[in-house]
Amino acid sequence: MRRLAHISDLHFGRIDDRVVEALVSELNNERPDLVVVSGDLTQGARSSEFRAARRFLDRLQSPWLAVPGNHDISPYHLVQRFFDPFARFRRYIQQATEPVFHDEEIAIVGINSVRAMLLELNWAHGSLSRGQMERAEERFAAMPPSLFRIVVAHHPFLPPSDEPTVRTVGRAAEALDCFERAGVKLTLSGHLHRGYARFLEPVLADGHITEIKARAPERAATRSLLVVQAASATSTRLRGEPNAYNHIRIEDGLASIEPRIWTGRDFANAESAGSGI
Ligand SMILES: [Fe+2]
Ligand SMILES: [Fe+2]
Repeated sequence: MRRLAHISDLHFGRIDDRVVEALVSELNNERPDLVVVSGDLTQGARSSEFRAARRFLDRLQSPWLAVPGNHDISPYHLVQRFFDPFARFRRYIQQATEPVFHDEEIAIVGINSVRAMLLELNWAHGSLSRGQMERAEERFAAMPPSLFRIVVAHHPFLPPSDEPTVRTVGRAAEALDCFERAGVKLTLSGHLHRGYARFLEPVLADGHITEIKARAPERAATRSLLVVQAASATSTRLRGEPNAYNHIRIEDGLASIEPRIWTGRDFANAESAGSGI
């Protein structure tokens, strides 16, 4: 059995200090086997914000791994944005922007979905290249098949069910297809500041899914990939949902997700906080 904490969209630079303190003490009480951070550690990729994010991570008694989010590359320092966009992430947080972790039970492959520039006006969106998908597939292929396989990336792979037009990461359909081939059972993401979990089901009317179904009808009836999104753990930039993060328990090849939601005083589970995934 493994216990993970999935935290996302911390946004140091625009954080609620009380929430940060509550999160540190809760995580240190719970001591999950791993804390997985799905990007947007900072608000504007400033050095001071990265230092604060790192101080937060250093206070955790569990090991952690992180992938960058679109807010972790500088919108101000354009030379750096285009020539070395992840320099500060590498310096302050972690050398790898696509970290890999595995032990005797689980395997996690991080994918960097952030783009310094896109052929459109909004550069906050993310995308995955085919090379990144191939690399993820190769990484999983090198690990024992018995491990419970997890992908972490910042941008969402499926939209929330009540907002099906929300933009997902570029090449989401291809990526999900690739992950399934690699035996991935769970994806962890953020970016939308909304928490939800959805199985990749063939019956969904979403265009991406129809596309996958059309390409792989033989697998459509047996899909079991769970797509999990976390709300913002600590930011004051909320989009209609309170701060929250996910407890994840992996046992006997199954993952169970329990969102922990900020009530204004502390984090509580979904029922007692009156909402949830
Ligand atoms: Fe964010
Ligand atoms: Fe984001």
